[in-house]
Amino acid sequence: MVIRRGGSLEGGIASSEITPKDAFLNRRSFIYGAAALGTGAVLLDQVPGLFHPKAVHADQKLETVPSKYTVPDVQTPFSKATTYNNFYEFGTDKSDPARNAHTLHTRPWTVQVAGLVKKPQTIDVDTMMKYRPLESRVYRHRCVEAWSMVIPWDGYSLSEFIGWAQPLPSAKYVQFISDDKSSDMPDKPSALDWPYSEGLRMDEAMNPLCLLAFGCYGEVLPNQNGAPVRVVSPWKYGFKNGKSIVKIVFTDKQPKTSWNESAPDEYGFYSNVNPSVDHPRWSQAHERRIDSSAFPKTIPTLPFNGYADQVAGMYSGMDLKKNY
Ligand code: MTE
Repeated sequence: MVIRRGGSLEGGIASSEITPKDAFLNRRSFIYGAAALGTGAVLLDQVPGLFHPKAVHADQKLETVPSKYTVPDVQTPFSKATTYNNFYEFGTDKSDPARNAHTLHTRPWTVQVAGLVKKPQTIDVDTMMKYRPLESRVYRHRCVEAWSMVIPWDGYSLSEFIGWAQPLPSAKYVQFISDDKSSDMPDKPSALDWPYSEGLRMDEAMNPLCLLAFGCYGEVLPNQNGAPVRVVSPWKYGFKNGKSIVKIVFTDKQPKTSWNESAPDEYGFYSNVNPSVDHPRWSQAHERRIDSSAFPKTIPTLPFNGYADQVAGMYSGMDLKKNY
């Protein structure tokens, strides 16, 4: 995602627009291909792993159990999934979070549960992590910028946590608010209103596919991937998945969400992966699948990111072109 004209996401191109010029030139970027996705040229320094910082291991292994919610696709290497990130609090270039997110203090860490719940309370993230066995779930991860990865996340269904939180029957939505401590994130860009906020309708949040993740690749989440706790809803574009969550709010109204507030014509509230609804500035019909090769191939995008069987029923009767 690239900030442009005061805040919108951009389709995996033109890092020259956001990278300081000297750094950009030093990285000797040059164009190797054009219009692969109908979005314009692809720059070499956008190829994950080529000119990016080294992956940083959190160095803490997790005990996990296998999960039935696992796709057979070839996994994206750890080194790419942890160095090609969107985490704007730490910078807008894909390589910035891996370089900068070490300033995030992930312990002690609490998550406040608020709004329409039986008992508002605050829970320590370690207690939260131990609440259920962590499943290793290999999910497709599709970014709105038309690239995708396949990542083994470690966590348990968000619905389990919601069961613990006991929302009131009047709760219709859940909002996830990310950390925004300036001391930990001194260089937040001004294009988004902080804190980062995302939300789901209650039935979406209760869908067993929706994961509360504490780790990936069998290790605690690296900071740049949203430590210590994040959401992963794999049938939606990546921006729906708030990282480094500090507050979960149950509400009866559709919550304000960061990208939808910043550019409502480009980023809807639902944001289900939908190859037939183009972003106003690029096609969503294909995606660049980031795997171990230096030149990732382009593959067709599947409705609901290939999870239609599990989730399409939640949207029956809705016009998903309008509710994009
Ligand atoms: N959460 C916060 N707090 N800040 C962000 O900038 N970016 C979103 C999402 N969650 C973002 C965030 C976007 S645009 C994407 S694609 C995914 O995180 C990226 O997750 P990944 O870096 O683990 O692939």
